[in-house]
Amino acid sequence: MAVRRVIRMGHPVLREVARPLAPDEIGGESVARLIADMTDTLRDYGGIGLAAPQVAEPVRLAIIEIPGGPTRYGEILTMPLTVFINPVIEVLDPAPAGYWEGCLSIPGLRGYVERPQHVRIRYQTERGDPAELELQGFLATVLQHEFDHLDGVL
Ligand code: NI
Repeated sequence: MAVRRVIRMGHPVLREVARPLAPDEIGGESVARLIADMTDTLRDYGGIGLAAPQVAEPVRLAIIEIPGGPTRYGEILTMPLTVFINPVIEVLDPAPAGYWEGCLSIPGLRGYVERPQHVRIRYQTERGDPAELELQGFLATVLQHEFDHLDGVL
């Protein structure tokens, strides 16, 4: 395991559409190493979410980990370390909620972004199992932010 460098706005990989991970890759050694490295990196940088393109790996994988306690966004919420592979978002309520979003690839800046506040995420786990999550409010925003990275959107 290792902390990787988070690439910053201006790096071409951040503008790429990442490729899906194939079934025979998920659970394999190189994806497991990438997940372990991304976990170390997320914790080292003190972030709550990280997408693989941010460590210059253009594949559809993101991790979220929100430890307990109040966030700088004012809401108290938690999410254990969760790995999202090949995620697909379904909007359940398009009514937007706005948050000041930060990004490890754009240090020092925050931008006010409005997004649908109620979504369902279908994805595969690190073992390749299908899974889904329904999220509202801030968590819905966090996930949509990370998944934007998989489509080359900052
Ligand atoms: Ni980001």
